[in-house]
Amino acid sequence: MTAAKDRLEASVRDCYATWSESYYRDYYGEGAAYPPVHRDIFKNLLAKAGAGNILDAGCGPASLLRELLGTGLDLYGFDLTPQMVVEGRKVLAEAGLPSGRLWEGSVRDPDAYRDPEGRLTGRFDAAICSGVFPHLPEEADAEVAACLREAVRPGGLVAVEARNALFSLFTLNRYSHAFFLHELIRADELQAGLDAEQRETLQKALAGLEDRFRMDLPPVRRGGEGSPGYDEILSRTHNPFILRAVFEDLGLVNVRLLFYHFHCLPPMLETGLGELFRHQSLAMEQPTDWRGHFMASAFIIVGEKP
Ligand SMILES: C[S@@+](CC[C@H](N)C(=O)[O-])C[C@H]1O[C@@H](n2cnc3c(N)ncnc32)[C@H](O)[C@@H]1O
Repeated sequence: MTAAKDRLEASVRDCYATWSESYYRDYYGEGAAYPPVHRDIFKNLLAKAGAGNILDAGCGPASLLRELLGTGLDLYGFDLTPQMVVEGRKVLAEAGLPSGRLWEGSVRDPDAYRDPEGRLTGRFDAAICSGVFPHLPEEADAEVAACLREAVRPGGLVAVEARNALFSLFTLNRYSHAFFLHELIRADELQAGLDAEQRETLQKALAGLEDRFRMDLPPVRRGGEGSPGYDEILSRTHNPFILRAVFEDLGLVNVRLLFYHFHCLPPMLETGLGELFRHQSLAMEQPTDWRGHFMASAFIIVGEKP
């Protein structure tokens, strides 16, 4: 278990080590493939909650934190990848914040949630975690959500961003096939108790399923400079129904889902539409629209500690 955790965390560090300086530009800059719409969702959440301070678990190069400079919030964060912490400190230092506001740590380590002075440990107004859950094994979801809950005061806000597994029902590609086979049909369960002939018939039907999807899409995102790419390390999606149950089982209240990065059509149809695809998709951005369950590739799940 520990060896597996160490191996996984080493692969995540390898993936992100060479990304620290360009990450913000790639995902939040002018040239980003899609505007960082989650930024305003987080900002609104924090403003509505009246938060005075925030802990960003897995903060990367302070990508979200730097967007919160000037809001009056006291900013704190930690990340697994040392190069990300170095870059984040550089950015926050330019705004006059001390380097101690960011530190190295894993979201799977309860001690990582302690601020260096201990002033806010267990008493943060809000704990957020964005872009990190894809890199956690399934068994760590509840463990990390519990750490986030422990990091905040009663009434404090917990917000986790994740990739939406249900979006695969809209993409019609290899992700859809995997979701049909493993999550909906559950082929292994379906085959249990069948005789040889029935199994063969079922196998033939299941083989036909592949023909319904573009199994060559999307292309695998590979790394550079000897680092593994995003799709070459563990990069899970999450089922919002299941993550909601995780939050509720932990006793978080007022649990809600906010969807973002809508797609007006399945992504494989983007070619040819160019800017129109982006324009129409952006027009759909409404975090509480039920269509987000299927047409948005990401969501933020929010809850409060009672
Ligand atoms: C996609 S980036 C997101 C950065 C930032 N939170 C944002 O939303 O812009 C993922 C970050 O999560 C960090 N990360 C992955 N697994 C982690 C873990 N177990 N503990 C802490 N950070 C982790 C990576 O080092 C990387 O900086």
